[in-house]
Amino acid sequence: METPSAYHDPLDPTKLGNFTNRLNVPARDGLLGFLDASAGPIELVTQKERMHLAPGKETEVLVYRAERDGTVWFNPTLLVKTGDTFSASLNNGLDEETTIHWHGLHLDWRMDGHPLRAVRPGTSYRYAYPVANRGGTYWYHTHGHGNTARQVYMGLAGLFIVEDDDERRLNRALGVELGETDLPLVIQDKNFDEKGDLVYAPDEMAQSMGHTGNAILVNMTPNPYLEAQTRLYRLRLLNGSNARLYRLAFTKLDGGGLLPCRLIATDGSLLDRPRPVREIFLSPGERTDLLLDLRDFEVGEEIALKNLAFDPMHREHAMEEGLGHGSHASHGGVGRAEEMRQATRQLGDGEEFYVLRIRVKDRAAHGASVPEILSTVPPADTHGAAVRTMTLSAATEAGQTRWLINGLTYEPDKYPIVVQEGTTEAWEIRNENRSMPHPMHLHGFRFRVLERRNSPSQVAEKAVDEEGRTATDLGWKDTVLVWPGETVRTAIRFSHDFGGEQLYLFHCHILEHEDAGMMINYKVVDPAKCRA
Ligand code: C2O
Ligand code: CU
Ligand code: CU
Repeated sequence: METPSAYHDPLDPTKLGNFTNRLNVPARDGLLGFLDASAGPIELVTQKERMHLAPGKETEVLVYRAERDGTVWFNPTLLVKTGDTFSASLNNGLDEETTIHWHGLHLDWRMDGHPLRAVRPGTSYRYAYPVANRGGTYWYHTHGHGNTARQVYMGLAGLFIVEDDDERRLNRALGVELGETDLPLVIQDKNFDEKGDLVYAPDEMAQSMGHTGNAILVNMTPNPYLEAQTRLYRLRLLNGSNARLYRLAFTKLDGGGLLPCRLIATDGSLLDRPRPVREIFLSPGERTDLLLDLRDFEVGEEIALKNLAFDPMHREHAMEEGLGHGSHASHGGVGRAEEMRQATRQLGDGEEFYVLRIRVKDRAAHGASVPEILSTVPPADTHGAAVRTMTLSAATEAGQTRWLINGLTYEPDKYPIVVQEGTTEAWEIRNENRSMPHPMHLHGFRFRVLERRNSPSQVAEKAVDEEGRTATDLGWKDTVLVWPGETVRTAIRFSHDFGGEQLYLFHCHILEHEDAGMMINYKVVDPAKCRA
C-alpha cells in the first residue's frame, strides 16, 4: 500500500506542479467556442461525446452540439445582442428527458426550460425569444426534472454572452477582445476514474450536502495553465459547479499578498463603477467579471488564481451533535477540511487549492485605462413593495437531511407563491442557524440585493456599505448566496409583457438540493384577469 506522502494524484489541485494542462480558451469552434447566434436560428443536439479533457485519457461527456457550414461546436458560447431575437431548437439525442434553461434571462416561461416543458428523447423543442437583458455573462444548462445535477455534471452547460452599448464601449476602452484578453472562465469540480471517465455517484452525504469533486476544471480543462502578456485582462468567472463554493483570489507565486483586482460586473450587468476587491466568494450559478492588470509584471513571473481556505459553515447537525462537525466548522473550516482530506483524500469544502496558473510570457504595449463609469444602475425602487419571507431550513428524516423552502419540498403541480404582475416585492431570504450556505436563484426576473443582516464574520468583513452588502451583491442579480443565520433582503420587480400567466421557479443552485426539491414554483398573474 502506498503511504500518503508517496501518493501522487495528478489531478490534486493543492499541488501547483500538477497545473500542466493548457487552458481551453474558447475559440471559433470546438468546446465552448464562440457561436454568433444573432445571425439566425441555431440547432443544439444533446448527445454523448468522447473528448480529451485530461492528457492521454478520453472522457465521455454530455454536450450540446451545434453545427453550421461545416463548423462544429460543443457547448458553444452563444453570442447575442440586446434586442436580438434568439432562436434555438433543442434536439434531444439522449435516452433521457432534458431541457435548456437560459439562466438569468428574462423570458416567457414557456421558453425557460421549466421541468414541466421537458423534451423527451428523440423529440425537439424550439426556444425563441427577444433578448431583453442588459449586456452581461449569462449561461444555459439543462433543467431536467430531478436530473439536473447529473446532467450538468456530465457536461450540459454553456455560456450565453449578451452584448449591448455599455459592453461595447467598455471593451473598446479596455482594449480587450473576447477569446484573447476577455476570457470566460467556467469553474467546475468533477471526479474522474482511472480510465478518465466522469464519476457521478453521490453517497448519502453528497446527496444532502451537494456533490463536490476532487479535480478542478476551468473551461473543462483540469489543472489548467494560461500564458499571458503584460496587459489588462477581463475575466468572466462562472461558478458552474454542482455544489462547491469558492473563495477566489489572485496571488503572485513568489510570495506577496493577494493581488488587487477590479470587479466590474455581477450576474446580470456591469456595475455603475469598478470596485476594488482582493477576494470574492462565488457560489454555484453566480458570475463575476474581474479586471486583472498584469502591466507591471515581468516576463517569467507567475500568478495563481486560488481558492482560499474558508469556513464552509456546515451547521445542519449543529444542534444534534453538540461537538459534532458543526461546531468544528464554526472554529474555522481549515481544520475540518484537513480532517476530511486525511480520512478520505477528498478535496474538502473550504480547503485551499489552486484553480488556474498564469505565466507571464510576453511584453505587450498596452495603454488602455479603466473607465470610472461603466454603466447606470438605478437605485432599487421598493416603494410600496410587499414583503415576502422565504425561509430556508433543514429537516432530518431517518438520518437524512432534507432542505426546505418555507417548510416545503417541491411539488410540480403546486403554486405556493402567487405574485401580481407589475408589482415590486421585497423577498427576505432567511437562512436558519442550523443550516449551510445556499445559493438561491430566481427564474424569469432579475433582482437587487438590498441588505445582508446577521452575516458571519468572513462575509461581514467584505461588506462595502452600511447595508452589509459585498461587492458581488451589487448590480442586477439572479443568484445570491445566503449563509447560515443570515437574512438577505432583495427587491424584485415582476413586470413583463409576455401575455398570460407565468410559471417560474425559485430554487437553491446546489444542484443536488434543487433535484431533491429545494425549489418552489411561483406564478405571476395579471391582476386585471384575476378580477374577471
Ligand atoms: Cu441555473 Cu433553475 O437554474
Ligand atoms: Cu436560472
Ligand atoms: Cu441548498
